[in-house]
Amino acid sequence: MFEVLPQLPADPILGLSAAYKQDTNPHKIDLGVGVYKDEQGRTPILQAVQKAQQILLANEDSKTYITQQGVQGYIDGMLSLILGAGHPALLENRVSGVQAPGGCGALRILAELLTRCDKDLTVWVSDPTWANHIPLIGNAGLTIKTYPYFDKANACIKFDQMTDCLSQVKKGDVVLLHGCCHNPTGADLTHEQWQTVLEIAQQTGFVPFIDIAYQGFGDGLEEDVYGVRLLAANLPEVIIAASCSKNFGLYRERVGLAAMITPNTQTRDITQSQIQNVARGIYSMPPSYGGALVDIILNDPELKSLWMSEVTDMRVRMQSLRAMLVNKLVEKGASKDFSFVNQQKGMFSFLCISPEQVDKLINEHSVYLVGSSRVNIAGISNQNVDALADALVAVL
Ligand code: LMR
Repeated sequence: MFEVLPQLPADPILGLSAAYKQDTNPHKIDLGVGVYKDEQGRTPILQAVQKAQQILLANEDSKTYITQQGVQGYIDGMLSLILGAGHPALLENRVSGVQAPGGCGALRILAELLTRCDKDLTVWVSDPTWANHIPLIGNAGLTIKTYPYFDKANACIKFDQMTDCLSQVKKGDVVLLHGCCHNPTGADLTHEQWQTVLEIAQQTGFVPFIDIAYQGFGDGLEEDVYGVRLLAANLPEVIIAASCSKNFGLYRERVGLAAMITPNTQTRDITQSQIQNVARGIYSMPPSYGGALVDIILNDPELKSLWMSEVTDMRVRMQSLRAMLVNKLVEKGASKDFSFVNQQKGMFSFLCISPEQVDKLINEHSVYLVGSSRVNIAGISNQNVDALADALVAVL
């Protein structure tokens, strides 16, 4: 039966890791998949996570099933981290939520839930958006349309075009927004722009669906949730998908959160029953391990403060890598102004070079990046920045 299936190309992001591994060039540079790396190119387990693992190992006394929603301490801890502990929706018991297998799992079960609300629903995504948003949401059967977001020629957000488009979105449509550290561009909305998005949502009645996968990597753990909190405080319905892959470094443990702000407790209970039922029909319940670790960290003041300082270290290092690359490109006489890289936030930057130039970087210089020209800033180091800048100057 399988002979009817065609061979598929490698995943546009994950496939880069395999290509990088096969490359025998000793000077190869990996700026592909969004994984934090230290100066030595390693992705170590955070100290807070290591300590939480010891606590979990010493205290876990059963491997029986956990509850359908996942680790409740994890869900509560994450909701407080994202919304703030005193958020009215939390105090009024208007937020439903489940632990999900990664941010991807959260996006997918929320998309499945949306099809139960309206199978003809349209989800608007930014142009560009993270490549995997399309299958995660589209494969659930929802229609995907794009709103203008990034002006590649001028390396900035096309905010006027974005708002013109969002103003035409019909009531009940869903608009996917990146909470912070936009993937792939690194270009984030300002506070004023979030305010405008809120006003458009209030006028049109669209429902925001916020994907927040990099909290703490932009300007700080509190600063990065400005938009989510603003929308959640002023709209009756907001959908949230969050991930602990990056800020807790728990990539392979697949730790995510699917949450919904609802208008009242009754709708909260209904959506809670529905999202658990969606998950039950796909994977039953989430794996507990990663959520249990985050629960321990967020609910232990000492571990939480250690984790927060580790997030700060990662953020500050990535900011300094941006500056290092920009300065190096100036020093090497690059014919293009890359200073916009310093303004972009989080793990990614769009270099705003052509697909042909990307191909040359990969094939002639062994510099691995996503075809859109997205680079993982954390892959830059003191060791490779010269070679990277030389390669970029050569392909410009
Ligand atoms: C990325 O954007 O590189 C990461 O989120 C990894 C992935 O799954 O694509």
